[in-house]
Amino acid sequence: MHNDMTQDIGSVLLSESQLQEMVAQLGRRISEDYRGKNLLMVSILKGSVVFMSDLMRHITIPCRIDFMSVSSYGSGVKTSGIVKIVKDLDIPLGGYDLLVVEDILDSGMTLQYILELLQARGPASIKLCTLLDKPERRKVDIKADYVGCQVPDEFVVGYGLDYDEKYRNLPYVGILKPEVYSK
Ligand code: IMP
Ligand code: MG
Repeated sequence: MHNDMTQDIGSVLLSESQLQEMVAQLGRRISEDYRGKNLLMVSILKGSVVFMSDLMRHITIPCRIDFMSVSSYGSGVKTSGIVKIVKDLDIPLGGYDLLVVEDILDSGMTLQYILELLQARGPASIKLCTLLDKPERRKVDIKADYVGCQVPDEFVVGYGLDYDEKYRNLPYVGILKPEVYSK
């Protein structure tokens, strides 16, 4: 009944302090690179919400934020590549230097779709920032401009990342025990 989330975690991949250091460093780089630009940070819900809320507090230049929610059909551990917009951005993108903020770049199919869609709306520029990157799993030619850290091909949860909508509230990134999603 009262099962503790931590018993489903095989090991901690990134601790709270490692995450904070990583995010602070990304914030410094982005603040330098976007000086004099018109930064709009777009968080892809829901996975990037924890990362976004930490990252934006390390941005030292003026910026705006917005949110977009997409769902890739299928609720398991793999993406289908077919994406539905559940919540669109609130503002037109003309004149903005867009920074798309994601939790993890896996096959890249979801992000490829999102980037093409946003590109078509004519922003001044568009770049991608992902907390985690699983390069081994890539199925399309897409690279992030800012990467917190590369991770091995294991299913990870916490710090916003979920399995079946659970574990997002863990303060660290952990590797989910395979028996949790294979049963
Ligand atoms: P992609 O289209 O395969 O790149 O899928 C990206 C999305 O899949 C991410 O935004 C996550 O929601 C989800 N995802 C991929 N790998 C993981 C993982 O290891 N843990 C949790 N979610 C993941
Ligand atoms: Mg997800």
